[in-house]
Amino acid sequence: MSSPALAETSATGTCKVVAFANQKGGVAKTTTTLNLAVAFAEEGHRVMCCDMDPQGNLTMSQGIDPDTLEKSMYDVLVHHVPIRDIIQKREIDVACASIDLAGAEIAMSTMIGRERSLQKALKGVEHDYDFVFIDTPPSLGLLTINALTAAHKVIVPVQCEYLSMRGLIQLQNTLAMIRENLNPDVDIEGILPTLVDSRTLHAKEAIELLEENFGERVFASRIRKTVRFAEAPVKGMSVLKYDPDGLAAHAYRQLAKEVLSNGNR
Ligand SMILES: Nc1ncnc2c1ncn2[C@@H]1O[C@H](COP(=O)(O)OP(=O)(O)OP(=O)(O)O)[C@@H](O)[C@H]1O
Ligand SMILES: [Mg+2]
Repeated sequence: MSSPALAETSATGTCKVVAFANQKGGVAKTTTTLNLAVAFAEEGHRVMCCDMDPQGNLTMSQGIDPDTLEKSMYDVLVHHVPIRDIIQKREIDVACASIDLAGAEIAMSTMIGRERSLQKALKGVEHDYDFVFIDTPPSLGLLTINALTAAHKVIVPVQCEYLSMRGLIQLQNTLAMIRENLNPDVDIEGILPTLVDSRTLHAKEAIELLEENFGERVFASRIRKTVRFAEAPVKGMSVLKYDPDGLAAHAYRQLAKEVLSNGNR
């Protein structure tokens, strides 16, 4: 039995935690975390993004230099610094990461309850936000396991190529393990086709294959390829702020509507 969709659970007034995960690199996890968060904020929700990737791309995408941070997610996970102390306010609130987070997996490896560090940390801000969005690194290591353990739902961005799909099976196996041992109710909210080049037959075929295998779990929204997504982070902005009336911004607003009304799909 899966837990109810975000649309239903968000009506209860409790903070909902969504992890954005796919162990494949460069499939638009960070882009989706940030832009969907900003789209949710436009709808009036209080949203915090938590950067769980040592690359700090989400942190940088909001114009924050990870090298200048005094404290970051490393200190939250390893030294139990309250997460509120490291949150910076930008377009949305960001719990920042820097490269030292790469050492967190080893530092946590001998800790009892190491898989639950993030879940515990988020308790400290659960009354401050309607949604917490977690960006994860391209691996299924302890940082991603912490994210999946803290999450109610998982959104899986997938680049529409045949080879990307194979990785989904591995992600599903990891989720099954998490459900069995750590977080019985976590489930995939939806699979998001990203970097779609609608001119190619391959993209069409890849989406068909995705729908054949994952059916209703595939969002109706699609995120097309456009250079705007590469331009916006350079300016430290979401695409919704960088090019508010463009197709890219529209795509994430559309996805926000879909997620927030899910169950009607
Ligand atoms: N729809 C899109 N069209 C064009 N470029 C995109 C799109 N979405 C993301 N990109 C670009 O593709 C690159 C990878 O995106 P992103 O960093 O979001 O992926 P990721 O899955 O978070 O990567 P990683 O696994 O390294 O964390 C970035 O340069 C980003 O700007
Ligand atoms: Mg990323």
